[in-house]
Amino acid sequence: MMTAQQRLYGGGALAVLVIGVGLYAGGVFDQFGTLKHAPPEAPASAPPAPNDLAGDPPRAELAAPAAKTGASVAFRPPPESEMPAGEFGDVIRRGREIFIDTPRAAPAYVGNSLRCVSCHLDAGRLADSSPLWAAFVSYPAYRSKTKSVTTFQQRLQGCFEYSMNGRAPPLGAPELVALESYAYWLASGAPLDPKIAGRGYPALAPPAQTADFARGEAVYVQTCALCHGADGAGQRTQSGYAVFPALWGSDSFNWGAGMGRISNAAAFVKANMPLGLPGTLSDQQAWDVALYMNSHERPQDPRYTGNVQGTRQGFHDTEDSMYGREVAGKVLGASGAPKAFKALTKSRP
Ligand code: HEC
Ligand code: HEC
Repeated sequence: MMTAQQRLYGGGALAVLVIGVGLYAGGVFDQFGTLKHAPPEAPASAPPAPNDLAGDPPRAELAAPAAKTGASVAFRPPPESEMPAGEFGDVIRRGREIFIDTPRAAPAYVGNSLRCVSCHLDAGRLADSSPLWAAFVSYPAYRSKTKSVTTFQQRLQGCFEYSMNGRAPPLGAPELVALESYAYWLASGAPLDPKIAGRGYPALAPPAQTADFARGEAVYVQTCALCHGADGAGQRTQSGYAVFPALWGSDSFNWGAGMGRISNAAAFVKANMPLGLPGTLSDQQAWDVALYMNSHERPQDPRYTGNVQGTRQGFHDTEDSMYGREVAGKVLGASGAPKAFKALTKSRP
């Protein structure tokens, strides 16, 4: 069998699909959905001080040094084979289905090419990829983004609204109950502890050199474009199945999403991308490519106040966000009012 490296540089459109399907259908994950590659060591240094006016959620809620020291992750969620039978099991399975196949299983609430699992890898199991079990044991919690105590269901609503560029299912909707049940089951036996090891993404130390667009572009062309496309739009099969999710543009997460913050994106990319070869980029490369990715246009922030600079002031007034800043002669976020949400009329394959 080819190594991941050989596959990655094999080239050609067919190879891309083979890689995607191969990785997706078990090339990277074993039969219990556990990643075969060990997650990379988290940097021992303290995470950068967050500016928590923007983003989802503010790093301050997650960057607890105790959970980020690279100590081995003790908690492992139960294997799929242990899912309970009966009606509760059915709802848990439904939650898993929504999580890994969101546009098909919850089309009324999704506005882009992404799935929950696009950013929470391995069906929400993988430590350092913002796993669901760690999230479940961390709510209710005060969030500066909402300036209130947020329940787990409300936290789920946020990812629909921003990361999925969709609409939040109402509290108590069957979709939220199913996702909550799946998260609860994954957390079986975990301590109630918002500092549980493996939560979020391991924070990266600030870059040695200020993150740079041109260097980021070079990293992107070399290590990302093969899957995510030269234009960042990802790749769909003819029937519409998004084999590779969009990183920017109209089919990606919107400006209010956590991934839109450069520090979150850098931390996610360092720990999880390129898919199948996590931890192979240097910290500097991760920062550069995160800046590059987030220096492109994407759907409007749903919290838009009527003008870009006001919205920047209210929600993005930080070096960590490119919203409202000028790149190549264009102000990012200047696409006007948010487009009215249009639910997918039919579920996608
Ligand atoms: C574009 C990427 C992306 C997508 C798609 C996405 N999320 Fe998230 N999600 C994030 C980021 C970034 C965070 C905050 C990251 C962190 O933990 O530092 C987050 C946080 C969360 C949290 C809280 C984690 C914690 O430990 O506090 C939950 C729960 C969650 N997401 C659920 C979902 C669900 C359910 C979906 C699908 C409906 C989804 N996400 C889709 C990027 C995404
Ligand atoms: C081998 C193909 C492949 C390569 C190369 C790759 N990715 Fe990904 N990437 C994926 C897939 C597939 C997903 C969705 C994960 C899933 O569904 O399990 C993903 C998800 C993501 C996401 C979260 C979802 C989204 O659309 O925002 C980001 C951000 C991302 N990749 C960035 C990068 C960056 C930056 C690079 C280069 C350093 C890169 N990827 C290289 C396949 C790839």
